Amino acid sequence: MPTAHINAESTDFAPAVLMPGDPKRAQRIAEQLLDSPKKVTDVRGMLGFTGTYQGQPLSVMGSGMGQPSIGIYANELYKFFGVQRIIRVGTCGGISADVHVGDIVLAAGAHTDSNFNQARIPGIYFSAIASANLLIAAAAAHTNETPLHIGTIVSRDHFYASTPGQNEGLADYGVLGVEMETAALYGIAAQYHTEALTVLTVSDHLFDDTYEMTASERESTFQGALKLAVAAALV
Ligand code: HPA
Repeated sequence: MPTAHINAESTDFAPAVLMPGDPKRAQRIAEQLLDSPKKVTDVRGMLGFTGTYQGQPLSVMGSGMGQPSIGIYANELYKFFGVQRIIRVGTCGGISADVHVGDIVLAAGAHTDSNFNQARIPGIYFSAIASANLLIAAAAAHTNETPLHIGTIVSRDHFYASTPGQNEGLADYGVLGVEMETAALYGIAAQYHTEALTVLTVSDHLFDDTYEMTASERESTFQGALKLAVAAALV
């Protein structure tokens, strides 16, 4: 039963889906992690795969960039494909001075400048929060080689944001980093009574452009974040 944006059968996805932004990264994660990965969807190049990880079914699918894009895929996965759990694996720009390039961030909650969750409950400002048991499982899988931060992030609609004072205001409130998808993902998970978590690697810092990760640092940090994401997926 394909949907508008996913040309898979209703049983093609595992209950848990790892979701990077980039569909090519979804393919690389599937090839790295999964036994006998099978491509299950490719509409508009948004690749999705299902296989097994240590004997348990697991899927990996790209989300694209931004809340409208991840919103489409998360909605259809939860509503039509029996998915119970989506773990976004991505990158963020660091905001808090406590956060450094290469660190891992678990998004306990996501502020946003988007109106994606605005109209969910009449008269209420919706709180976009992670599923507690996924957050706990991911944190428990951390082995200390990379600094781990658990707290709020901001999901912004503008990559090239320019509101004066906004980054400083976010830093004042201890916001760990900025990305573009999580508030929508958490809102949709709440809507469908399903689960979601975002696991991020800090790829750059908004107040410190002196540090660039080497390719091998980038890869090893990403592998550390992926390990936490898999622990949450299979909890
Ligand atoms: N905004 C700014 N910097 C970033 C982002 C973002 O969404 N993602 C990774 N670095």
